[in-house]
Amino acid sequence: MTVFRPTRLLIATTNAGKVREIRGILGDLPITLATLADHAELPEPEETGSTFAANARIKALAYAAGTGEVTVAEDSGLEIDALDGEPGVRSARFNGESYVEKFATIARLLAERGATTSTARFVCALAMTLPDGRLWETTGTVEGRLQLPARGDAGFGYDPIFYYPDYDRTLAELTDQEKAAVSHRGQAFRRLRDYLSQ
Ligand code: IMP
Repeated sequence: MTVFRPTRLLIATTNAGKVREIRGILGDLPITLATLADHAELPEPEETGSTFAANARIKALAYAAGTGEVTVAEDSGLEIDALDGEPGVRSARFNGESYVEKFATIARLLAERGATTSTARFVCALAMTLPDGRLWETTGTVEGRLQLPARGDAGFGYDPIFYYPDYDRTLAELTDQEKAAVSHRGQAFRRLRDYLSQ
């Protein structure tokens, strides 16, 4: 098997929460990690995919084409079973400007279905461009359930309403290390780290 050991990787995200988590996982590799902050001139590709994997591929290929860098992109989000998997790939742009508003929307949609909570999962699809033009892909998933009202102020996004039973806390009540040990992104980027370290 050909070993692929880039010395530099572009992490194709502007989300500061994601960047912090990803640096925590890949930071000890002998690889320089760039982010989109180093490429502010690049237009954002439209995330037209209907799956996390499709959107991760769109971002990886677009930013690799725009920069010439080996590019790692991830697309992630929250799937709520009682809402038929919503907000899913629309997690970032789901109803409401702030997360307080998004949480209120979720509470209202659940109430309309006679529910106050639901099983849910975070999913992370990761795609990395390879020198031959193919993509290396993986995914990570963490199962939990909704906690409304929200609890905790660590993490980002939907973390305060995602209760993780094994810890008996929401993801927003965890340290970065505790979250990475179980999270969707932690799983996917540990697989990437293993691939790059083999
Ligand atoms: P993306 O940038 O299109 O992948 O959007 C991902 C969105 O999903 C984020 O903006 C958050 O709303 C949500 N999300 C993904 N991962 C997490 C997480 O680890 N915690 C909380 N929310 C997340």
